[in-house]
Amino acid sequence: MKTEVAKKINCLDLKGQHQQIKKEIFEAFEKVYENTAFSGGPFVEEFEKGFADFCGTKYAVGLNNGTSALHLVMLALGIGEGDEVIVPANTFVATAWGVSYSGATPVFVDCTSDTWQIDATKLEQKITPKTKAIIGVHLYGQPFDINAVAEIAKKHKLFLVEDAAQAQGAKYKNTVVGGFGEMACFSFYPGKNLGACGEAGGVTTNNEAYAKHLQSLRNHGSLVRYYHDEIGYNYRMGGLEGASLSIKLKYLSGWNDRRKQIAKRYQGEIKNSAVKLQLQPEWADSIYHLFVVTTENREEFIKYLNENNINPALHYPVPCHLQKAYAHLGYKKGDCPNAEYLAEHCVSLPMYAELTDEEVNRVIAVINKYGNNKG
Ligand SMILES: Cc1ncc(COP(=O)(O)O)c(C=O)c1O
Repeated sequence: MKTEVAKKINCLDLKGQHQQIKKEIFEAFEKVYENTAFSGGPFVEEFEKGFADFCGTKYAVGLNNGTSALHLVMLALGIGEGDEVIVPANTFVATAWGVSYSGATPVFVDCTSDTWQIDATKLEQKITPKTKAIIGVHLYGQPFDINAVAEIAKKHKLFLVEDAAQAQGAKYKNTVVGGFGEMACFSFYPGKNLGACGEAGGVTTNNEAYAKHLQSLRNHGSLVRYYHDEIGYNYRMGGLEGASLSIKLKYLSGWNDRRKQIAKRYQGEIKNSAVKLQLQPEWADSIYHLFVVTTENREEFIKYLNENNINPALHYPVPCHLQKAYAHLGYKKGDCPNAEYLAEHCVSLPMYAELTDEEVNRVIAVINKYGNNKG
């Protein structure tokens, strides 16, 4: 008799989503093709308008990826050599890249021990006369405590920037993120909750001057063709990416709701003292880009999950301040203990809208049988 082998459940699987909307996406691609609108143009503009509406901001500027968004935002704020920008140690390293590209120095601050987001109580000790901005990250899709960080930014006359790369549609105190700081940076990398068919990113803002400046910077420093007012970049969004994003934007709220449903089940039904979940403050409406947990013996836990055909991931195994790329800044182990603990103990469980109820059941049941679980 054949024993049935359970299908492997990966941390993320993009196939289901793309099968669902393949026809619509291909029709949109055809329109881009017929219009030869491959770089910027009407399909990008349509997305920019739709995304600004979605975020409740006046402007959205489409770019080639989220890292470029962070770079251009630094430039638009006039940040450069000799300046410092405070960045959480627990984030994807690209949050810091924009600061480094501008010539400024990222200054890493620890996260809290429970929400795992930027720790507002540790910000003031990082502020120096060179500090110009704080970048808060809505990591894993959960808004950071914006009011607490904004208060400190205001007190010290610093710019506040949101890195919302993982948080399209997340809400802080019932308001969609993207309009809280001077500007907010988004990634539309394919694996994000709103991901393009290709690489893409963008910035939202309520400030017209910033929006205009970003439009110029992304386009070789030019708003009028062949007239270059400053050194610029080729950071434009592609037409195919813009068209795919407009289609997916229509589905985003439904997909986010399904992720929330799955998260609710994990939160209510995973009962294993060996597995710790992220605290969800009542003001944070996360869109669960990732569902990260911690466990003491990570290697053993991952081996166990793999043996049960569950394939988790790590976000992220090395905190920014201990990355080799930033060794010259002189950080050492112990400087950001909460971020270091997370890096060593985090595990990302399967999380995407197309996970079936049976798959969610299986993840929960497997985790509840892990170790000497007594609940
Ligand atoms: C928190 C964060 N910031 C920035 C980025 C950079 O975005 P991209 O990969 O589109 O350049 C990402 C995505 O990878 C991210 O997760």
